[in-house]
Amino acid sequence: MPLNIPNIREQFPILESVIYGKPLAYFDNAATMHKPRRVVNKVTEVYEKLNSNIHRGVHYLSNQATTAYEEARQKVQLFINATHSHEVIFTSGATGAINLLANSFGESYMKPGDEIIISTMEHHSNIVPWQMMCKRRKAVLKVIPINKNGELILEEFDKLLSPKTKLVAVSYVSNALGTINPIAELTQKAHANGSLIMVDAAQAVQHIKVDVQALDLDFMVFSGHKIYGPTGTGVLYGKEKLLNEMEPWQGGGEMIKTVTFEETTYNELPFKFEAGTPNIAGCIGLGEAIDFVSELGLENIQSYEDELLDYATKEFLKIPGMRIIGTADNKASVISFLVNNIHPFDMGTMLDKMGLAVRTGHHCAQPIMDFFGIPGTLRASFAVYNTKDEIDRLVQGISKVTQMFG
Ligand code: ALA
Repeated sequence: MPLNIPNIREQFPILESVIYGKPLAYFDNAATMHKPRRVVNKVTEVYEKLNSNIHRGVHYLSNQATTAYEEARQKVQLFINATHSHEVIFTSGATGAINLLANSFGESYMKPGDEIIISTMEHHSNIVPWQMMCKRRKAVLKVIPINKNGELILEEFDKLLSPKTKLVAVSYVSNALGTINPIAELTQKAHANGSLIMVDAAQAVQHIKVDVQALDLDFMVFSGHKIYGPTGTGVLYGKEKLLNEMEPWQGGGEMIKTVTFEETTYNELPFKFEAGTPNIAGCIGLGEAIDFVSELGLENIQSYEDELLDYATKEFLKIPGMRIIGTADNKASVISFLVNNIHPFDMGTMLDKMGLAVRTGHHCAQPIMDFFGIPGTLRASFAVYNTKDEIDRLVQGISKVTQMFG
């Protein structure tokens, strides 16, 4: 069903911003998305009408806040099609979720010499926590290579799998290249090898349906702020059995059942993994963001964003000297690029003066930049509120800067 884009844009007050006298065209959605008014209002409403700590009060407001927080968890459960709402652990973001997993999974399952496989196209958040875990547990980190289009080389993945592979941790969509990885195939291969899989869906859930049961994922993480929700929110999904087996990471707050100086027993799921007062208003806001996405329909969003990606790719390639980094067959709405030998920072700064917000740098994915032998790229990433008119402005801006650099 075609979306009513003008109507959608009206729901985002920040899109009316004027930057250096020019209307804002925001193409940094892979870093963070803007929030529709209803999400902002929901967070305000929580602080104005519900503010109270959850799960521990007998009073009215505490019960209301607890109900709203747990309803948000159920919204996430339905959105990712988890079997139980207690398989949804609220975290501070995808990074927080991976750190939780790396600690809890590492302590519970990894022995010296065990192996974990990641890929060359991972965000630092899906590299560093595993490196730290490998150091603690004396485990071994292995890396799936990519080809020059920015796609995983699956034959190499097959060779890396071994009886010692405990976990495969890969991104669904690359933040720097836009590549959509074949998660169903990777999962099937990991499971056939007796390994578990964790998918970093931080760049996926806002663009494509991620059904954890259909894909048979063991773990999955995403960030709230990249799906039109508040910053400081995120999710770790895990299969009930695995989460029950795992040691908690952080201690304190509602994660306990009983505490004495001799021993602590832990609470049940999901509380075992949610130490301390969580981001109550933020998580309720995330539930509202999920409603926003669900009401538009992810398949409608995906088809519109595919249209934007195709259009932008075609128009970008008309610019002399344009080089797109990441040309996978299956891509989400992210274009990383360089033009001639213009430094990304110079181009990005000049585009900014035209009201065009793009990202520049290594995008927290330095191994990808090393692979392509470049220091960084410019990156335009699209959300449901972007338009072809904005892309035309971006193309004109890039052309103008290119001409200025001769
Ligand atoms: N991970 C974010 C990005 O890709 C910050 O820009």
